[in-house]
Amino acid sequence: MAATEAMEVFDTPRALSNWSDLHRIAGRRVALVPTMGALHEGHLALFAEARRHAEVTVVSIFVNPLQFNRSDDFDSYPRPIDDDLQQCRSAGVDAVYAPVASTMYPAGFQTHVEPGPLAGLLEGAHRPGHFRGVTTVVAKLFGAARPHVAVFGQKDFQQLAIIRRMNTDLDMGIEIVGLPTVREPDGLAMSSRNRRLSPAQRPAALCVAASLQAVADAVAEGQRDVATLVAIGRAVVHAEPLARFEHLEIVHPDTLLALDCIDDQAVAVTAVWFGDVRLIDNRLLLPGRPA
Ligand code: PAJ
Repeated sequence: MAATEAMEVFDTPRALSNWSDLHRIAGRRVALVPTMGALHEGHLALFAEARRHAEVTVVSIFVNPLQFNRSDDFDSYPRPIDDDLQQCRSAGVDAVYAPVASTMYPAGFQTHVEPGPLAGLLEGAHRPGHFRGVTTVVAKLFGAARPHVAVFGQKDFQQLAIIRRMNTDLDMGIEIVGLPTVREPDGLAMSSRNRRLSPAQRPAALCVAASLQAVADAVAEGQRDVATLVAIGRAVVHAEPLARFEHLEIVHPDTLLALDCIDDQAVAVTAVWFGDVRLIDNRLLLPGRPA
């Protein structure tokens, strides 16, 4: 709505809530796009989607310490705040919420949102406590921004499933919109962590999307056995000397439970390391449809 108005920048939950309430009272729908900054075109696609669902959009930028299980990953997470604000302005975002950690988690903070079994699978098995940190911060962002709609990327497939579950379980009543992964022209899923790849690691990182493509191709050719499909995908990563395979699993897209055999929908999810940079990606597998 406010392409001609100055973008607001808030750093306290109260200021954000006041802004949101004024728009709600005026009958406008409010969209929230939570991010950790270091914005790229994947984030910008979420902002554009938010504008299709609401009259005003707030983007949160907060590198959430609660969801990092490694302090080196938290410390090295890029924080180009001036560039991020400029990108938000150019994208026509109406407000940015960028609190400091001591505002998000002041002294005395002690309440967390405990996700259920969905959070123990896949990513959760490799990053203990990660999703508890995500649900806690997203619940706080929902509480402060009071949005009608919130937009998330399918790039973080499990995160999206867990947030949908939280929204339903805790009667938050927010419309949750999921958007397909935005990729670089060569297929690499856009990620804030890509900028930490060295010049040699960047081309090597193509093996992540390529391994999922190999799985999808095999499904299109009729392969249904999950162990065989995982071996096919893993071989692509193993062939890349700069890559260190972490996991590749093929699960049901709703329950995230492991499958033995694909007969309906499935999703392949993977994580691969390049030095100390961990990249994730996923791909829906639809038997009977072209890959
Ligand atoms: P962040 O990694 O900054 O991602 C913010 C949002 O952008 C998430 O919904 C994520 O799925 C989406 N996204 C990232 N890369 C994308 C891509 N290539 N295409 C489409 N969408 C993409 O995810 C988080 O931050 C945090 O966990 C957060 C939800 C903000 C809680 O701290």
